[in-house]
Amino acid sequence: MGAWEVLVTRQIPEAGLDLIRKECSVRLWEEDRPIPKEKLLALAAGKDGIVCLLSDPMGGDVIAAAGPKLKVIATMAVGFDNIDLDEATRRGIVVGNTPGVLTEATADLTLALILSLGRRIVEGDRLVRSGRWTGWAPTQLVGADFNGKTLGIVGLGRIGKAVARRAKGFGLNVIYHNRRRLAEPEEAAIPVRFVSLEELVRESDFLSLHCPLNQESYHLIGKEQLEQMKPRAYLINVARGPVVDEAALVEALRKKQIAGAALDVYEQEPKLSPGLAEIANVVLAPHLGSASIETRNRMAVMTAENLLAGLKGGLPPWCVNPQARQKK
Ligand code: DGY
Repeated sequence: MGAWEVLVTRQIPEAGLDLIRKECSVRLWEEDRPIPKEKLLALAAGKDGIVCLLSDPMGGDVIAAAGPKLKVIATMAVGFDNIDLDEATRRGIVVGNTPGVLTEATADLTLALILSLGRRIVEGDRLVRSGRWTGWAPTQLVGADFNGKTLGIVGLGRIGKAVARRAKGFGLNVIYHNRRRLAEPEEAAIPVRFVSLEELVRESDFLSLHCPLNQESYHLIGKEQLEQMKPRAYLINVARGPVVDEAALVEALRKKQIAGAALDVYEQEPKLSPGLAEIANVVLAPHLGSASIETRNRMAVMTAENLLAGLKGGLPPWCVNPQARQKK
């Protein structure tokens, strides 16, 4: 039992929880489901620190419910679109996340999705399990080649670059669109070519999304973009669900405007848009981007380190709003 009162909104790997328990009094939400909003509001009250997940809506209401003792929010994720950062900063609450550590795992998953989708592995798995498979057939479940095709990446940050490096091994040519263009030597080293979003959408055989969710990226891929994609192109989303207008995607898939989609994230996670689950040529993963043992352990430790630094009045080592420290 330590000095600080901390809420941990879900069981996280012990490697991180142990570090927190050594110095804090922990209220852990132990149920194997996200903490309901009313519980979150109630349990946040009076806490010095909160460890949350990307599935916890940390809006102004939760921050206000926590009260004036709250010093730090540590999220076990790189994305922090679930946290009202302006409100946290205004109240002098530092927010920490887990960048970098999940880059390679998320890039691995992206390639796994691209390969499963293009080579129809999930459809094949369903066929074999169903008992309806009658053996090898020349036209059965034929998919896409990768060599010489074009991979378009939206958001060439850490994860986007790791995806581009892997794509090279499969003979894919990589084009990208980003808010800021990379310096030419860096582009040449990966190698990648910068294009406009419209060109990216039109030219890609595989269009893979790696941008953060914010006002600019909300529904970045909607009806218009889906109509511009090649009919044999595939969409892959491992970023955040709302980057894609999921209803428009279902419509595009039904009309066969594109060849298929692989999603690791959903607009109303964990709910799916009506009709999505019934479409054969989609691969649906349950937000597995960072789900490797080593990565999740490291994320938990980083989360604990962020929390403890914030509780001690310092800056979390991975802080997304250092300016908050000026306020407290
Ligand atoms: C993150 O950390 O933001 C990822 O989405 C987790 O897989």
